[in-house]
Amino acid sequence: MSDKPNKLITDDGLRLDGRRADEIRPMKIEIGVLSRADGSCYLEWGRNKILVGVFGPREAHPRRLQRADAAVIRYRYNMASFSVEDRARPGPSRRSIEISKVSREAFEPVIMAELYPKTAIDIFVEILQADAGTRTAAINASSIALADAGIPMKGLVTSCAFGKVDGQIVLDLNKEEDNYGEADFPVALTQDGEITLLQMDGHLTPEEIKKGFELVKKGCKEILEIQQTVLRKKFETPVEEPEAEPEAKTVDTESEAAETEPSLEYAPEAAAVEETIEEAEELEEEPSEETTKAGAVTETVPEAEELEEIVKEAEVEVVDGEAIEEAIEAESEEEAIEAETEEEAIEAETEEEAIEAETEEEAEEAETEEEAEEAETEEEAIEAETEEEAIEAEDESKGPWKVVKDPSESGSRGENDE
Ligand code: CDP
Repeated sequence: MSDKPNKLITDDGLRLDGRRADEIRPMKIEIGVLSRADGSCYLEWGRNKILVGVFGPREAHPRRLQRADAAVIRYRYNMASFSVEDRARPGPSRRSIEISKVSREAFEPVIMAELYPKTAIDIFVEILQADAGTRTAAINASSIALADAGIPMKGLVTSCAFGKVDGQIVLDLNKEEDNYGEADFPVALTQDGEITLLQMDGHLTPEEIKKGFELVKKGCKEILEIQQTVLRKKFETPVEEPEAEPEAKTVDTESEAAETEPSLEYAPEAAAVEETIEEAEELEEEPSEETTKAGAVTETVPEAEELEEIVKEAEVEVVDGEAIEEAIEAESEEEAIEAETEEEAIEAETEEEAIEAETEEEAEEAETEEEAEEAETEEEAIEAETEEEAIEAEDESKGPWKVVKDPSESGSRGENDE
């Protein structure tokens, strides 16, 4: 226990915690803090810290306690052993039983117990930290917890104490004022101003009690405003559904955009892959010069018509030519097969080729199959006149492939890859 200070009220009229005589300690309230309770409240008032849980109306047990005409109200005030400077003995005490009784009676006038016969309404108060005025603080918290539980009440109950300190009447005593003051006078009021709790510890004159009551009314009015503000904040908060829908749509849009983003990111890559595949297919299907020419003939109608005309003219010339049969006979079978294509036919049917084929020497030279094969083209036939030249030509044709398969080059790639 701390020693008594010389003065509890300074010469400036201020108390040790800086308050004036008619001021209450700062109050903080949280509602609905216990999920398993029907109603709950956590309240801090100065250095007091209190937790209240309300259960019911629920079937009263044991049944012998049931009332046929109304609900039974049970109020249990419990002080945690760690809530005070000196350890509080666990379990009920004369003090806690007394406080529980007077606090229950403070609510009986306002709770509409007649609506719930054979039931019980339980109010559990846990004092977590005590600093004088715990019963009044517990009543204020219980009032909010009852409202949070939906218990029908005629109104809220507010409670505050006044006392006498250094010969002055002050409101809402703190621990030092309660311990070293001359009087402590807790009061509970309904919203209609009716007194539901009144206790006195100490000595007070009627004038001092009257003055003290004026302070209590002022204090309870301030507390009632705090209680109502907290309850309105929970039960009267408007639900802005029209604004919630656009937000939801916005979220959906963002989520949809997020879902489409990956596809957008991958789209260019997929397109590049597709282009690469198409290019590879084009390279694989890239036609030879003959096919290209043939394709050009089929695709471009005017050129095809011209070619047809040239073919017809050549055919006419071939028909008219007396040496055409000889030229045809001079042509090898492979040349004839290859000449089945339009282009070869066109090339073979040109006048120059026809004239060249007319010569018997060329026909005789083409009589041998090997020469005929090597002479599929005029240049190749000329170059293949000798076997060595033909071999050189073959080497040249194979040259590029050998370069590609050069092991030294492939080895350098491997080094680069590493
Ligand atoms: O708390 P309240 O003023 O309603 O009741 P009290 O009996 O006048 O107690 C005044 C204060 O004394 C309590 O708030 C506690 O801080 C303190 N006290 C204590 O330290 N040890 C106890 N066993 C009981 C009360």
